[in-house]
Amino acid sequence: MDIMGKWDREIREAAFILSKAAKASAFCGAGVSAESGIATFRDPGGIWDRVSPDEVGTASGLIRTLEQKADILKPVFIDMIDSFEQAELNPGHKALVDLEKMGIMKTIITQNVDDLHSEAGSENVIEVHGSLFRMVCLSCGSRKKFERKPFLMELREKLNFLESFSLENLVSLAPECPECNSMMRPDVVMFGEAVQHLPQAFNASKESDVMLILGTSGVVYPAAYFPVEARKAGAEIILINPTENPFSDITDVYIPMKFGDALPAVVDRIKEMAV
Ligand code: OAD
Repeated sequence: MDIMGKWDREIREAAFILSKAAKASAFCGAGVSAESGIATFRDPGGIWDRVSPDEVGTASGLIRTLEQKADILKPVFIDMIDSFEQAELNPGHKALVDLEKMGIMKTIITQNVDDLHSEAGSENVIEVHGSLFRMVCLSCGSRKKFERKPFLMELREKLNFLESFSLENLVSLAPECPECNSMMRPDVVMFGEAVQHLPQAFNASKESDVMLILGTSGVVYPAAYFPVEARKAGAEIILINPTENPFSDITDVYIPMKFGDALPAVVDRIKEMAV
């Protein structure tokens, strides 16, 4: 039996639950972008498999590592730039857009910083860990959005011309704030920093009638509370993840498949039910 056949009952159950929903939400993690070519954080080959979060995941740790041993970060950064630049939407992103158009999906709460949900056409996306392609001014807090591919192409070109991969040289690449000319940094949330749009994400979770949990290990807080809040407020929970995660206990339907295979199959079933 192929993988779709194996989980057909779960796919049908998820389709049935979603077909009755009007305020569904999705809580997304890096697994959603895995089939787009971006490595997850904690699976083999992911960034936290290559360097420790203490060295790179906090602002102070990153600065210290760049001061002391910038060379170990160079291949990690270059691989990240390459994969984020080459990433393409996968069928799961498109299935989420379909669910929104069908009036089922209201909000996507994503931990991802890759912009792919918005690029796919999802309208209501809450990026709780920020975006790699938005810069924030360290002085006045102004934000400036960039387009993913041109932004990364330019960054790679600038990196190629750097004399050496050092903190000082990397800082020289930071864009200037158009408002106050101070330095800008990527508007991503590092460990120890405040999650973005927290009230909106909690409200969307509590208002959900169904929450899809998609491709996340569920180990980073406060984001990992959102499904718990949704559940407490009465939402049915559908989990799509190849491996079990801490949400298995609050899950009504678990589909142990890849996001890009499972969610389009669920959406196809909903469409079949409508005819
Ligand atoms: P993780 O790398 O921790 O977890 C990714 C999850 O996706 C794992 O459970 C995998 O089994 C699953 N997965 C892998 N391939 C998949 C696929 N094709 N389809 C569906 N699921 C798949 O990534 P996150 O949970 O997103 O935070 O990590 C949470 C946070 O930790 C990130 O936002 C980031 C990181 O440190 C910050 O940077 C603040």
